[in-house]
Amino acid sequence: MMDYIVSYKNPDIRIFNDVNNLAEAFSSEFISEANRQLQNKERVNIALSGGNTPKFIFQKLVLLKEKPEWGKIFLFWGDERCVSSDDPESNFGMTKKYLLDHIKIPSENIKRIRGENDPADEAKRYSEIIRQNLPKINGLPSFEIIILGIGEDGHTASIFPDQMGLLNLDEICSVAAHPVTRQKRITITGHIINNSRKIFFLVAGKNKSLVVADIINEKGDYLKYPAYYIKLFNGEVVWFLDKEAASALNN
Ligand code: 6PG
Repeated sequence: MMDYIVSYKNPDIRIFNDVNNLAEAFSSEFISEANRQLQNKERVNIALSGGNTPKFIFQKLVLLKEKPEWGKIFLFWGDERCVSSDDPESNFGMTKKYLLDHIKIPSENIKRIRGENDPADEAKRYSEIIRQNLPKINGLPSFEIIILGIGEDGHTASIFPDQMGLLNLDEICSVAAHPVTRQKRITITGHIINNSRKIFFLVAGKNKSLVVADIINEKGDYLKYPAYYIKLFNGEVVWFLDKEAASALNN
């Protein structure tokens, strides 16, 4: 397993030379964490993120000799663009190309957000899917693992700075919109994210260094960043950063 070059505790931050080393390390951590949680559970419900960083992770994950118990792993998405699954923008489409087409996972374990549906209807439908499939903690559905990225504007999942209300909405999922393109999205809401057992923030690239530093060091515009408000009620947050994304941490 590729070792990190630096690590901190509280928060748990692991820094890697580059995104490939980050991906290699995280793919092993993904299996270890899933196996850890499967020691006392029948299944593990994992919400995946979209964007580009997961591509690196999935490519490493499918190459690992040690395979997760995919039969006991149920895959959800933390957010999805409201496009068809074969659209280049689709988070499911990306995951299918880089992960699902290369692993033996029962189709019933894959809980796709149907980006092609009417957004409001799909937010309701997916909320029900999550409610039906996840155990409850604090009376709310609780994912065992959520993988999140962070945008340069501090968004996470599809909770953008101009839609901070999604952090505390009562609904499990909501319709969101990209602030620039206005592309409709479906996203899980902040309190569902914060009700999970373990969150992995996977962040790579120099363009994320300032937002990462502001959030972790609670400086600059951190209060404007939705990712800053990811504070688990009953779990822990682990940061996997490449050197570039971590480069402003000690400024
Ligand atoms: C999405 C993601 C989003 C993503 C960040 C980081 O649908 O775009 O879920 O929250 O994780 O924008 O994306 P990159 O990994 O491409 O930097």
